Amino acid sequence: MRDDSNLPASPDFIDHPLGPPIAAVSPSATGLRIDWADGVTMDASRFWLRENEVAADIVDPETRERVLRIADVPDNLAIAGAEIEPEGAVRVIWEPDHRQSRFHPGWLRHTAEGGWRPQAGLPARESWTAARMPELPTFDGPGVLDDDAALKGWLGALYRYGIARLVDVPLADGTVERVARRIGTIRASNFGFLFTVESKPDPDSTAYTGAALEGHTDLASREVQPGIQMLHCQENTSEGGASTMVDGFAVAEAIRAEDPEAFGSLVRDRWLFSNRHPETDFRWSGPLVETDIAGNIVEIRNTGFLRANPDMESARVEIAYKAVRLFAERAAENRFTCRSRFRAGDLVAFDNRRILHGRDSFDPRTGSRRLQGCYLETDELLSRLRVLNRP
Ligand code: OGA
Ligand code: ZN
Repeated sequence: MRDDSNLPASPDFIDHPLGPPIAAVSPSATGLRIDWADGVTMDASRFWLRENEVAADIVDPETRERVLRIADVPDNLAIAGAEIEPEGAVRVIWEPDHRQSRFHPGWLRHTAEGGWRPQAGLPARESWTAARMPELPTFDGPGVLDDDAALKGWLGALYRYGIARLVDVPLADGTVERVARRIGTIRASNFGFLFTVESKPDPDSTAYTGAALEGHTDLASREVQPGIQMLHCQENTSEGGASTMVDGFAVAEAIRAEDPEAFGSLVRDRWLFSNRHPETDFRWSGPLVETDIAGNIVEIRNTGFLRANPDMESARVEIAYKAVRLFAERAAENRFTCRSRFRAGDLVAFDNRRILHGRDSFDPRTGSRRLQGCYLETDELLSRLRVLNRP
């Protein structure tokens, strides 16, 4: 065990390694320049350093939340001196109040390397087609239930590819909740805390019949579509009903290359999605494909069976329908589709804002097909992955 008894706490709950030694610390008018022996440097703002000391009056040692108000920091704050302690911590002497603050060198290094960024430590996302993904990335269910290293492997694949399957998951009712709790909190919806997909009398969704479902995201009728969806197969003896899984990001990229005008419509023209129900009325209007400021595709919103009205100037409607049809045609192509049949004990988790999931029709008279499912926010997955990735 490392003896870090004399090192200051860091303003997070990460057990930072010390990192390479700091070679020099040099105060400037606006903060502190830190030079590591391996050439990495950081210009730390005076205000940022000041508000990140772990101390009862700045960052509470128990909660690691800040109690200091930034407006209470003197605006003539200056660093009068700085030194590297023998164990490696950085000590800063402040003016005008002569306070001394100490900082953990591993936390400073983590900051210099951008370890605080939302994407830090997460795998890169990779889009895929059927050639790349003939079968779903598959992991051992009991392992994931018991072992954090196995959980990390499964969740890493889920983030990277947007989909990952478990096999040999126990069949008991509610097991999908046990698996979800390995990640975080379930997000309930109008379909319940958990939902059961089987053919039912008086269905309130096509999902609850034996009909085929075109590839879709769930709940496009809501402002925030569920981030992660889990489907746990408890029984599948009926004929038909194979699952289709498509990387919606790959489809959108293909359309961007093939037909820029259609792609322009997919990202620009909005559609009203609404659920249909006697007692609920969920509506949201948005484009089928969302891009970030750099043009990266970040979300697919496409519950085709809930698409209601073109929410755009009427002059755009023809081109918008052309684009939606092209998207649907491409998304149905075998080159994009990873097809698999649920077996009892399979649990498939996928990014509901990226993967278009669907199924072939099945004949409920030939046997039983029963899936239990739930949703989680994407934040739950990201948080769990970051914690699992901590040193
Ligand atoms: C759904 C759904 C998939 C399936 O319930 O929304 O997509 O395989 N089900 O039944
Ligand atoms: Zn669905």
